Amino acid sequence: MAVRPKVFVTRPLPAPALELLALQCEVVVHPEDAALAPPELAERCRDTQGLLVVGARVNQEVLSHAPNLKVVANCGVGYDNIDVMACTQRGIVVTNTPGVLTDTTADLAFALLMAVARRVAEGDRLVRDGRWQRSEWGLLWGADIHHQTLGLYGFGRIGQAMARRGRGFLMRIIYHDALRASDVIERELGAEYVDRDTLLREADFLSLHVPLTPETHHLIGARELSLMKPTAFLINTARGKVVDEEALVAALKSRAIAGAGLDVFEQEPHLHPELPKLENVVLLPHVGSATAATRLKMALLAAENLLAALEGRRPPNIVNPEVYV
Ligand code: 8YV
Repeated sequence: MAVRPKVFVTRPLPAPALELLALQCEVVVHPEDAALAPPELAERCRDTQGLLVVGARVNQEVLSHAPNLKVVANCGVGYDNIDVMACTQRGIVVTNTPGVLTDTTADLAFALLMAVARRVAEGDRLVRDGRWQRSEWGLLWGADIHHQTLGLYGFGRIGQAMARRGRGFLMRIIYHDALRASDVIERELGAEYVDRDTLLREADFLSLHVPLTPETHHLIGARELSLMKPTAFLINTARGKVVDEEALVAALKSRAIAGAGLDVFEQEPHLHPELPKLENVVLLPHVGSATAATRLKMALLAAENLLAALEGRRPPNIVNPEVYV
């Protein structure tokens, strides 16, 4: 590369990733760990060839201000923040970071499952607030996890990693996905493919592992929640908009389901006002992939994808291969 391409990084990333980029590019890093809104991002992209995005929206407005943009490298596996079709139309490569966060995200999904079933957050609040004043036999009875049915909606990398964890807890594993897994995978994971409604009806824990697309928007709404057992729990580490939050709040309040463990919300970081008032939910601030080791791997992978695209190589994790057609 004769002239060093300009790259804009939307948040301060771990140093090794920035150093990798700086070997070949002129790098500008937004110093704040907060999502830039499209108008600000548009302003920063005017003369950049590469954009490394963490959680910011890349829409038509941003793209129309970035005539030189060649690649948008998303630091995350989900890329619903990016208008991929508009990128493809402009010949811009889009990449993501699958694989490196699979087990970390499944760990957190399982942590939420356990926390809500065994009332971990409620117990912590009780002890912390000094409300634990005598030993009570009837205190904080929760639900068993072992030998229960784990229902996985979405059976890609993270869904399958969740199945492995469920197996360790002697759970029955059922799943539904637009694409059925191979016999080999089903056998290895002891997972049984079921239709949508059977999944909803039979799961003691329903864990969501689908990407957000127009088809999965409000995949879980009032009807789906009404099919679930009143003793069942919903776990969402995928995307908030996959669940109709209004319907979920109603189901939690009426005890149509037993509880929910949520890492993602419809309007992050804003919560539905009723959610924090409910005891039968565990709420986390979208930290599914948040471990030091995994965030470093994500940042490095995003940087590698970006450099590959700028060098004219096919990036390892291209989302829109049709851009090369
Ligand atoms: C966030 C995630 O994207 O990878 C994903 O899809 O949800 C997370 O890893 C990442 O934290 C950037 O916001």
